[in-house]
Amino acid sequence: HKESHAPEGGFSFAGPFGKYDKQQLQRGLQVYAEVCAACHSLKYVSFRDIEALGYSEAQVKAFAASKQVPGIDPNTGEATTRPGLPTDRFPSPYPNAVAAAAANNNAIPPDLSLMAKARHNGSEYIYSLLTGYQAQPAELLEHFPDAKTPDGLYYNPYFANLNLAMAPPLSDGQVTYGDGNPEPTISQMSADVAAFLTWTAEPKMEKRKQTGWAVLAFLLFATILAYLSKKQIWASIK
Ligand code: HEM
Repeated sequence: HKESHAPEGGFSFAGPFGKYDKQQLQRGLQVYAEVCAACHSLKYVSFRDIEALGYSEAQVKAFAASKQVPGIDPNTGEATTRPGLPTDRFPSPYPNAVAAAAANNNAIPPDLSLMAKARHNGSEYIYSLLTGYQAQPAELLEHFPDAKTPDGLYYNPYFANLNLAMAPPLSDGQVTYGDGNPEPTISQMSADVAAFLTWTAEPKMEKRKQTGWAVLAFLLFATILAYLSKKQIWASIK
């Protein structure tokens, strides 16, 4: 399968000095919530975690309350749903794996919390996968007619076995971004949701990189100090 690639211009968080772009993470959350959440959970992310993207406590409360999460009916004891609280996780839209598989041609939409870490070059992979749907190359079919994508699956050269059960989830203009944001093209929304899913997989990335630089600076200082001490200690011995 094809090697993944970053969006044009690269991700803001790439490299040792890279930082998340909070505006982009907010757009990515919007894409996730309006599109991907119809099938995928984020079971390791709580609603309150999005405060880190620049939302107020009140906004988080309202956001959580606008989502339905699994609950128990206090009168009958039966499984039901209730509005979310900030402490709830982003839920799966399906009651269980059987229902999830039944709705998706027998494939279960995986939880996306750690997808950016689970796949090689995960951020680039998510971007490439979402923008990579295409018709099967005629040449391929000519040589390998049996490789024709089965009904209900979709050809995508970035997916490990080339045919996946997820229909292309995005189309141009699918979400409406607020004023001052870029056009919601497939490529833009894919980059934004890939950035958001990188944040869900590694929310403390900036801290890790900063700490790395501080550690390097300290080690450099300690090395110079050790060298100078050595010179001083051995100065009298020629
Ligand atoms: C698989 C992302 C929307 C159904 C996946 C995978 C990713 C992903 C990264 C895993 C591929 C792998 O295993 O390497 C997204 C994103 C979405 C989105 C970012 C929103 C932009 C949807 C929607 C549906 C869906 C709306 C259902 C209608 C599935 C299914 C699989 C899958 C069934 C399993 C495919 C297979 O194993 O063949 N998705 N997805 N996804 N997704 Fe989505």
